[in-house]
Amino acid sequence: MDDHADITEAAAALKTGGLVILPTETVYGLAADAGDAQAVAKVFEAKGRPAFNPLIAHVADITTARRIAVFEARAEALVARFWPGPLTLVLPLADEAAVCDLARAGLDTVAVRAPGHPMARALLQVFGGPLVAPSANRSGRPSPTTFADAWEETGGAATAGLDGGPCVIGLESTVVALLDRPRLLRPGAVTRAEIEAVIGPLAEAQADAKRSPGRLTRHYAPTLPLRLDVEEPRADEVWLGFGPRGGAGFNLSAEGDLAEAAANLFAYLRAADRADGATGIAVAPIPDTGLGEAINDRLRRAAGFVG
Ligand code: TXA
Ligand code: MG
Repeated sequence: MDDHADITEAAAALKTGGLVILPTETVYGLAADAGDAQAVAKVFEAKGRPAFNPLIAHVADITTARRIAVFEARAEALVARFWPGPLTLVLPLADEAAVCDLARAGLDTVAVRAPGHPMARALLQVFGGPLVAPSANRSGRPSPTTFADAWEETGGAATAGLDGGPCVIGLESTVVALLDRPRLLRPGAVTRAEIEAVIGPLAEAQADAKRSPGRLTRHYAPTLPLRLDVEEPRADEVWLGFGPRGGAGFNLSAEGDLAEAAANLFAYLRAADRADGATGIAVAPIPDTGLGEAINDRLRRAAGFVG
């Protein structure tokens, strides 16, 4: 496959209002020109996403980000440390045209992230402006971590797709709002401790739910019911184990490695969902430290505990 030709073709599709399946280091996205309201509307439609849930503007670099959002000292410190990479910042909006109203769900803030995946970076550079790219799943479903899963979810709405291999991280970016006090809106691939080491304590999102509209709905859910913190699965359940006692089937990480578990999580939820004769999915306890906070967040939402 010729990556350069594919990227040129994908950029051309985006310029004419098309949608593109985009690999990132976290999960696959469904990309559109952030300034093109019609293209952005197609993204909401393909995902079945409620229009009150805003999208992330993906950028090639810090310079582009500074054009669309207002950066202050803490934002600068965070991007110097974590970009390109799996951190999204919610900041005051600087340029209304670059990221259309629909993409922001009418808010006067914008979420920005510079992804680290080489294909995403190449596409953003060739395209030259911000791209919205929500996870490529239909709304409420697990995020896709392979090209095949992304294509199955929303490929029907895409004009082009880039196969960048399996996502190395497998969990979405961490979302931090820097509007008043720094707040953790979504735990993710960069841990709370890593962020607090740069800007100090993070407040919780709950106190400010309106600022984090996407957190209000059930998310990441397979079709089968999910039970959490299960040490002994029932005979009719698929077990997602963790650690040396986690069995040989779908063990998220036999070594108890949270990064490996994060990378396997969504793909295993999908595979468990397809298992013959299963009536449910049971998940072993996952420690709540480091990346475990984001894994447990996704599991609780997949099981239907939202708030
Ligand atoms: O890792 C990721 O971030 C992936 C890859 C493809 O880049 N993208 C992703 O996008 O997870 P999405 O749309 O599935 O999740 C974006 C999250 C949602 O929870 C949304 O509510 C929140 O970011 N968000 C976006 N703009 C916001 C804003 N202005 N204020 C508060 N939350 C915002
Ligand atoms: Mg998503």
